[in-house]
Amino acid sequence: MTQTDRTIEALFEENRTFPPPADFARRAIVSSPEIYAEAEADFEGFWARQAENLVWRRRWDQVLDWSGAPFAKWFVGGRLNVTESCLDRHLGEHPGRVAYYWEGEPGDARTITYAELHAEVCRLANALALLGVEKGDRVAIYMGMVPELPVALLACARLGAPHSVVFGGFSADALADRINDAQAKVLITCDGSWRAGQVVPLKDMADDALERTPSISSVVVVQRTNNAVSMQEGRDVWYHDVVPEQEPSRPATECDSEDLLYLLYTSGTTARPKGIVHTCGGYLVGATTTTKMVFDLHEEEDVYWCTADIGWVTGHSYIVYGPLSVGATSVIYEGAPAYPDKDRLWDVVEKYKVSILYTAPTSIRTFMKWGDEYPGRHDLSSLRLLGTVGEPINPEAWMWYRDIIGAGRTPVVDTWWQTETGMQMISPLPGLTTTKPGSATHPLPGISADIVDDEGNSVPLGGGGYLVLTRPWPAMLRGIYGDPNRFVETYWRRFSRPEEDKWVYFAGDGAKRDLDGDYWLLGRVDDVMNVSGHRISTLEVESALVDHPAVAEAAVIGRADPTTGQAIAAFVTLRGTAEGDEALIQELREHVAVKIGKIARPASIVFTDELPKTRSGKIMRRLLRDISEERHLGDVTTLANAAVVEEIAARARLARGNAGGGAQKS
Ligand code: PRX
Repeated sequence: MTQTDRTIEALFEENRTFPPPADFARRAIVSSPEIYAEAEADFEGFWARQAENLVWRRRWDQVLDWSGAPFAKWFVGGRLNVTESCLDRHLGEHPGRVAYYWEGEPGDARTITYAELHAEVCRLANALALLGVEKGDRVAIYMGMVPELPVALLACARLGAPHSVVFGGFSADALADRINDAQAKVLITCDGSWRAGQVVPLKDMADDALERTPSISSVVVVQRTNNAVSMQEGRDVWYHDVVPEQEPSRPATECDSEDLLYLLYTSGTTARPKGIVHTCGGYLVGATTTTKMVFDLHEEEDVYWCTADIGWVTGHSYIVYGPLSVGATSVIYEGAPAYPDKDRLWDVVEKYKVSILYTAPTSIRTFMKWGDEYPGRHDLSSLRLLGTVGEPINPEAWMWYRDIIGAGRTPVVDTWWQTETGMQMISPLPGLTTTKPGSATHPLPGISADIVDDEGNSVPLGGGGYLVLTRPWPAMLRGIYGDPNRFVETYWRRFSRPEEDKWVYFAGDGAKRDLDGDYWLLGRVDDVMNVSGHRISTLEVESALVDHPAVAEAAVIGRADPTTGQAIAAFVTLRGTAEGDEALIQELREHVAVKIGKIARPASIVFTDELPKTRSGKIMRRLLRDISEERHLGDVTTLANAAVVEEIAARARLARGNAGGGAQKS
């Protein structure tokens, strides 16, 4: 947890509030508070009205079929292709409107209009079709943040071929696992991507993965960094050899509302990532509606920038599908925020006159640390709305964001949601909601949430517990790919009462509600860490560590970190005569980077002769967390090996002093 209960209590008392500025509220897209009551009175009707804003080939017969709960069907019988809402419909009225201003890390730039984007998507779709991609085939995407990345997602969607994007920071092993789970037929990748002036060799890592992914028959490679790569005859083709020669048009493949749009893998409480299933109709309704309402997006005037990577759900919903569906002009930046200097983000804001900025608390805290002089170098007066997502935002960071970046006048929307929800769920509406630094305020119209105790009883206002969602929503996950049981067990078993037909979604987060009914997110309550806004499973890191020949046993926890939210702290016992020295620490960190990706490298590793265990042999993670966060340890008599605790605590203090970062986003 990044906000302790004590600070929350203090904030409750302080009750610092920011009503929407009058000039903002006057022009806001949603300006009537009635919207909440209307949606509450008939949530299906509310979502049906939102669905009218999309292009359908055939209208739905039924808004929601919840008879197979918790497996939902939305807009049943509806037919569409999401790219007709995202691209084709804009061609008539404003083909020349900019869809993306793209800024490369080295300083090159491209401007892509809706007409150009449409043409490029069709060309790539034609090329993929020639490579044998048909409706329903899965396509894996492993790329940097180049314009061809959104093109790739949309080309798949054009063909009705579900995409599975794997973040470019993941390792070859992680890529191979995801390709194999999805049984992907084609991989789209890049020779490399730019990150802080260095080339990330994506194709080399893909080659490594491809040695154990028999389902892949073709690989399309975008040339970006010009590093030497090997191309396998008969399997690998250059994007620039096969795409430009294609026709710039292609009819969109008609899909059912409930056809698979994409898979996106996310970490859970076991070592194996889950393929979250999103389908076409409901997902686009959710992404479109929230883009418009939460960002108050006036598509003819605003320049919108979400700094996430498209490899995460934030990029899927709020760089690609939502913004394109509303016809917005967005910025995409390729590289690292501190390249060439720590003012790069603000340089981009000034250059493109960005009016809406959406970023993560971890970035905001990093900018705070770097100092006010960097935003101070630039004219940020174009900004009129700021958003945050990915982890709890501490009130200091919220205030800094509003005061220093937003000049004390921009509303801040703190948006809570997940890969699984597909869309923002708890967030202010900036023209209506009175915000409080550190609170995501309340559920969006049509969304029903609650906070419950261990027994599933609703906790009265003022109390805390588990965050749950108590009603289906259109962009909700439809399952875990290939594993319906795990879907039910993970999200629905704990608090639902199937015998009463009461279905409650367990989000895995702890939260409190103040007396106004506003939600304050407290962080994960399960074995999932949130490091720089990235979700990483403790078990996944543990299994990467024990995969190393020197390691006998490993326990991993997320400890509070002022910048990254949580930092990965590992406790390791070694086999036989292996020596726990600095060289081995570096080797193990590297080993985790190779198994999962650099984002999962432990910030600190403590060697110990034993791990603290209960008498029944369970590792006491809570104790390790207390040790790591230097809390009073209290009673350890239930431990089988109580003596080990002092020794670990001493070593952990030492390791904290030596921690070399390592889990930073960049
Ligand atoms: O713990 C919550 C945290 O991020 C988790 C979801 O992670 P992921 O699926 O990777 O999606 C991140 C972007 C949507 C949640 O379970 N989280 C996300 N947004 C917030 C948040 N925690 C507090 N406040 C938020 N605004």
